[in-house]
Amino acid sequence: MAHAKDRVLSGMRPTGKVHLGNYLGALENWVRLQESHDCFFFVANWHALTDSTDTSEVPANTVEMMADWLGAGLDPNRSTLFIQSLVPEHAELHLLFSMTTPVGWLERVPTYKERIEQLGIASPSYGLLGYPLLQAADILMYKPRWVPVGADQVPHIELTREVARRFNNAFRSVFPEPDAMLTEIPKVPGTDGRKMSKSYDNALYLSDTPETVTAKVKPMVTDPARKRRADPGNPDVCPVFDLHRIFTPGPDREACATGCRTAGIGCLDCKDVLLRHLLPALEPIRERRQAFAEKPAAIVETLREGSRRARTVAQRTMDDVRTAVGITP
Ligand code: TRP
Ligand code: SF4
Repeated sequence: MAHAKDRVLSGMRPTGKVHLGNYLGALENWVRLQESHDCFFFVANWHALTDSTDTSEVPANTVEMMADWLGAGLDPNRSTLFIQSLVPEHAELHLLFSMTTPVGWLERVPTYKERIEQLGIASPSYGLLGYPLLQAADILMYKPRWVPVGADQVPHIELTREVARRFNNAFRSVFPEPDAMLTEIPKVPGTDGRKMSKSYDNALYLSDTPETVTAKVKPMVTDPARKRRADPGNPDVCPVFDLHRIFTPGPDREACATGCRTAGIGCLDCKDVLLRHLLPALEPIRERRQAFAEKPAAIVETLREGSRRARTVAQRTMDDVRTAVGITP
């Protein structure tokens, strides 16, 4: 008999269009995992409420993000793609975990303090404190073996394991402990040289046309010491070269590095070489995501169907959980 595939689960908040950093950091890996794993990927739209209670853009952002997921190659026939709020069992599990989890565990999660300090939040909500506990419910509901996430999320996975252990000890063993699956994530700089981020306005989006990508790359920040064409540069401190490392094959990339160090080529020449490799890598994704984006009703139907599937799994878990908790006569 064929061996059952290990399950993986991950999610993203619906912040809108997916940029190259999100793609290389997560989505590309998710697409690959479909070959070898039983995959669950979801839109964390309740978690979006911890950013802002202005929800006016959440539905459209969900559809845009899903167009990118599908365009990148997530396949709803192979993966279960769903929306958190369409599986309300997550909320019930979050509530039960809130009874077994010490407040101190949540106050110690680094992302909590960081968010409060960075955004200058005077009076943090109960939901913000509970953010990683809701995440634990999202994960444990599906009893996955692996949770593919970035390094910043590792404390949340550690907490998830502790939450599982604590629940299992308090009631009975319902939840296996999942592991974070860390993938080698390349450094993806934005056009200003800082980390690519929607909030820095420095991102290349999967939905950007070749013209837009070209217009963003041409003025991109380079080695700041290379002021004039005759100055030699250092590819190791140049954000354009970080993109070469991802997209440009060896020989062309080496030629750019040498040309840079010897002032044999200018930065615009170097960027032209990058565009020659970057644009063809992005174009098929953009074409596919555009085709999906033109049919938003089909995207919504795909998510509803996936959410029904997710819900049957969630209902089975909650049957066990309710029995374990044992409060209903
Ligand atoms: N906290 C994750 C992020 O900001 C999103 C998320 C919510 C998530 N629930 C999850 C990721 C469950 C993995 C598993 O990226
Ligand atoms: Fe960067 Fe290329 Fe200019 Fe060198 S030549 S500084 S690697 S853009």
